[in-house]
Amino acid sequence: MSLQAVGILGTGKYVPEKILTNHDLEQMVETNDEWIVTRTGIRERRIASPEEATSDLAFMASQEALRNAGIGAEELDLIIVATVTPDKFFPSTACLLQERLGARKAAAFDLSAACSGFIYGLANATSMIASGMYKHVLVVGAECLSRITDYTDRNTCILFGDGAGAVVLGPVAEGRGFRSFELGADGGGGELLKIDGGGSRIPLDKDSTAQNRHYIQMAGSEVFKFAVRIMGNAAEEALRKAGINKSDIDLLVPHQANIRIIQSSLNRLELEEDKCMINLDKYGNVSAASIPIALAEAVEQGKVSEGDCVVLVGFGGGLTWGATVLIW
Ligand code: UT7
Repeated sequence: MSLQAVGILGTGKYVPEKILTNHDLEQMVETNDEWIVTRTGIRERRIASPEEATSDLAFMASQEALRNAGIGAEELDLIIVATVTPDKFFPSTACLLQERLGARKAAAFDLSAACSGFIYGLANATSMIASGMYKHVLVVGAECLSRITDYTDRNTCILFGDGAGAVVLGPVAEGRGFRSFELGADGGGGELLKIDGGGSRIPLDKDSTAQNRHYIQMAGSEVFKFAVRIMGNAAEEALRKAGINKSDIDLLVPHQANIRIIQSSLNRLELEEDKCMINLDKYGNVSAASIPIALAEAVEQGKVSEGDCVVLVGFGGGLTWGATVLIW
């Protein structure tokens, strides 16, 4: 039995209106625009309004993806939301989104793989459609990282922002769509990037909150070294599985964590910068939402044409990583 080819039918994105610039951050912590731009490439990021939560951002991005796909919400079989900032523990953000979209026949679940979550979601959705279990799946990466960021910690608060990106997956013609996935995890590196508080080990209470344990903690330079190694490895492995050479890549859409990490991936893949989607200067690191926002923007800007070879690659807390190769 040959598997159904699966591809992206439509993309969408949403970012909140409020902009937090490097100059704003200079007023909040001991930092400066020049340091942030040269060390990270980030100039500004978006911050959700007090009324907005992750499902609100996901809803806006999903509506646009459905419109671009020409699919009604009632045609969705499954909704996967990749996030580390769900609206609440449960119901899942995917269930909140299902109700909001009116996707009556869709199953729904959240997926936790930090910044790699969107690629993990694509892999899940692709196998379910390829096997014939489902036809249309909405995969969303959505985050309100401003809610879990310590704005007194200059090591982390300069990096993160809020936003959402979404894609509708469905059957495509043979020879198109996803050609390979490379997913991985190294739980041994879990301590490098984490939130300790708020789960069953360290429940949220007055003490844990006073100790800021509900905020992201990161060993930045350790994560940096891991990222530089794994981005190239994961992309190369996905290309090898797809039987495609790196010289055939038309567009690389990497996780938008740090311009220096992206540049090292470009060197490793021997790609020029014009074959890479970079928008971290505007949005910072939006965890699971970074790749789908960048992909949606690449499509908006006409950077992807039919038949192009597109590589998506990311890494994140867990530690986790993921890459995929697709023919647009
Ligand atoms: O989605 C995955 C999430 N995480 C990541 O992708 C993060 C990966 N890591 C990074 O992007 C980088 O490690 C950072 C941008 C976080 C930090 O850059 P770095 O070049 O690794 O800097 P560093 O942590 O080694 O710090 C160098 C210096 C230190 O000062 P001393 O000890 O040399 O005097 C820091 O205290 O820079 C200082 N520093 C800052 N200075 C101004 C750290 N943060 C800041 C800041 N402004 N915001």
